[in-house]
Amino acid sequence: MSLLASHHLPIADLDLIDCDHRELAQRVEAVRSAIAGGERIGEALERLRDFALTHYGLEENMMMTSRYPHAREHMRMHQRLIGVLNRVVHRSRHAGTALTQEAMDAVEELHLMHMRIDDARLGQWLNERQA
Ligand SMILES: [Fe+2]
Ligand SMILES: [Fe+2]
Repeated sequence: MSLLASHHLPIADLDLIDCDHRELAQRVEAVRSAIAGGERIGEALERLRDFALTHYGLEENMMMTSRYPHAREHMRMHQRLIGVLNRVVHRSRHAGTALTQEAMDAVEELHLMHMRIDDARLGQWLNERQA
């Protein structure tokens, strides 16, 4: 089980965000099993990167419409995560799977940290406004 799947933490009753986070964890799992099975991983990686983009868009929309005060730093983190995912996609096209497995560890740890800190804070803000 991937780090993201085993450490899943609901973001304060926000089903939409939680649902996306579960989907992200599943897409990470798909990349991991493609690596383990020695399959071509490019497509699974791109599916992960594309979904991450969609998910960040959803959160950024929520931040804008709720005038979230920490939107700028949160969005900077999304850009950083996308940069990392883009590099992993690029490497998967030009290097072996061993390198990608290591890169996936870093991707997961970074995402986990982002969810625990930035997404949890956003979730708390959104819930307070809904209350
Ligand atoms: Fe986020
Ligand atoms: Fe998120």
